[in-house]
Amino acid sequence: MPIRRATTEDLLAMQNRNLECLPENYQLKYYFYHYLSWPQLLHVNVDYNDKVVGYVLAKMEEDSEGEEPRGHITSLAVLATHRKLGIATDLMRAAERQMRVVHDSSYISLHVRRSNEAAIHLYQDTLQFRAYDIEAKYYADDEDAFAMKKNFKKETPGSYILPGGYLEPNRPSPMPPPVISALALKKIQEGLPSSWANS
Ligand SMILES: CC(C)(COP(=O)(O)OP(=O)(O)OC[C@H]1O[C@@H](n2cnc3c(N)ncnc32)[C@H](O)[C@@H]1OP(=O)(O)O)[C@@H](O)C(=O)NCCC(=O)NCCS
Repeated sequence: MPIRRATTEDLLAMQNRNLECLPENYQLKYYFYHYLSWPQLLHVNVDYNDKVVGYVLAKMEEDSEGEEPRGHITSLAVLATHRKLGIATDLMRAAERQMRVVHDSSYISLHVRRSNEAAIHLYQDTLQFRAYDIEAKYYADDEDAFAMKKNFKKETPGSYILPGGYLEPNRPSPMPPPVISALALKKIQEGLPSSWANS
């Protein structure tokens, strides 16, 4: 199923998927704010009728004067009927890539509920995030959050979350491989002798 950058016409569908999938909800103007500020970071996955079945809403931190650029995942969800197909992995990788290519982000951070085993598996096993803090009663229903991050320019220190929400400290994840922009890739390919393209 195709993944693409979100357009303004997707924002209402993203809000609807959020309402269906998560208790953390936002006014529509917050989606527009993300879109107007960081249009490269919002992605959707659509089915064959162009219905949005998954989205990632991401941003760059705004309090970072004098600091390196840092990305943050505001919200991620996939419709229950479309889970375990790799959609969230694709959405997260697309947001990560744009944070690196467009914003030269040093790392990406997010919060996840202590009980959210599916998301924890996605973040730390599939995508190599690590937990660096527990924020007590972070959510409106008083559940704790793990604060997680993934460095783009060096290894990521931090803890590995074990089943049941226990932490195994000092389990870093390696630095991810470098990214190259689609434009740079095209330029490189255009510069190659035609014999390379056919080999
Ligand atoms: C968490 C969520 C986004 C995952 O979406 P998804 O499209 O099913 O995820 P993927 O198919 O990309 O799976 C990524 C990995 O997580 C694993 N996974 C997915 N659901 C899982 C579950 N219920 N339990 C354990 N692992 C799970 C997959 O097997 C896969 O692992 P692998 O890479 O080792 O094969 C989805 O379950 C969801 O929308 N949940 C409700 C909203 C939510 O919790 N959002 C995150 C808030 S922080």
